[in-house]
Amino acid sequence: MAAPLVAMAAGEAPGLGLNQRARRRGLFFGAAVNDDTVTKDKPYLDKIDADCGIVVGEAQFKWADVHPEPDKFDFARAEALMTFAKARKLRVRGHTLAWHEGNPDWLEPALKPGTAEGILRTHIQTVTKHFAGRLAHWDVVNEVVQPDDKQVHDLRASLWLRALGPAYIDIAFQEAAACDPGALRVINEFGTDYPLAWQERKRVAFLGLLADLRARKVPVQAVGLQAHLDAAEPIDQKVLSRFVTDIASMGYRIIVTELDVRDQRLPGDIDSRDTAVAAHAKAWLDPVLACPAVLGVLTWGLSDRHSWLNEKFPRDDKLDHRALPLDAALDRKKLWYAIAAALDAAPMRS
Ligand code: XIL
Repeated sequence: MAAPLVAMAAGEAPGLGLNQRARRRGLFFGAAVNDDTVTKDKPYLDKIDADCGIVVGEAQFKWADVHPEPDKFDFARAEALMTFAKARKLRVRGHTLAWHEGNPDWLEPALKPGTAEGILRTHIQTVTKHFAGRLAHWDVVNEVVQPDDKQVHDLRASLWLRALGPAYIDIAFQEAAACDPGALRVINEFGTDYPLAWQERKRVAFLGLLADLRARKVPVQAVGLQAHLDAAEPIDQKVLSRFVTDIASMGYRIIVTELDVRDQRLPGDIDSRDTAVAAHAKAWLDPVLACPAVLGVLTWGLSDRHSWLNEKFPRDDKLDHRALPLDAALDRKKLWYAIAAALDAAPMRS
């Protein structure tokens, strides 16, 4: 294995996991866990235990999973994750209560004037009350901004915007606050990572939305930055610093919710991909973790054994992405050491 990027301090346990490192700075580290993993892959779960203080369901809390039919809720898969998390003393994030994807087929046709608001409220009430007191955070709404859709307030042209207009965001946060006040309420977003023109438009729109939600006292508490990164894309650390500082200055906390680094634009050689992926993540994390409003980091999976990227952004050579901290054999990669180094370098939270 190549030399780790992090030198172990004298006397430090070499086995210190990412969450233990994060905790030394007042931060947390965690990862998304999918349903197959939770029921079938014990070695993987042991690694989750070793590196994580918090987990999030990759699908288990989404509408299609918990609300498969109009009058039927099904919490079996989410509860399997809760049982695992409880046994390992891990906190859990809920993801998500309103999104344009991950919905059951019945939902969109059912959203009519006169029914849509009740459907949204009933869903959020039922789901948040079911888990009340047991979840650390809720991603209340997911991916609501998309200036290129040319809709009101630069919001995404989603089923919820079509059915309810921008008020769906207020409704979602108000219901979540009323039904599970203890879970940190997060607005989760992607595509704000790079100095690309469409991402600059998105950052501006997102900051505008956050200011508006604050001004109208909508009970949003934190911003989730998904951080689905692309190793071939140039990073501008000043842009990132300014963005997280602007979010923090409005009083929001920040969580890095879904970090991974896709590499389909890099040549196949594993060692150079691992080096590029690790350096990329470190370059992104350093300015973000320097912001005191940031509470912690989760990756979207922990090992290359399972990543959504292989389906979503397949490489031409059909190799798997090297996107996550552990390789498919569950061994630490350069990315693991880069995340460890970024956590170690983060200023201490008070
Ligand atoms: C993805 C899952 O990883 C996939 O398995 C699923 O098919 C689609 O959703 N942003 C999000 C996550 O907020 O919910 C997405 O998860 C990845 C992008």
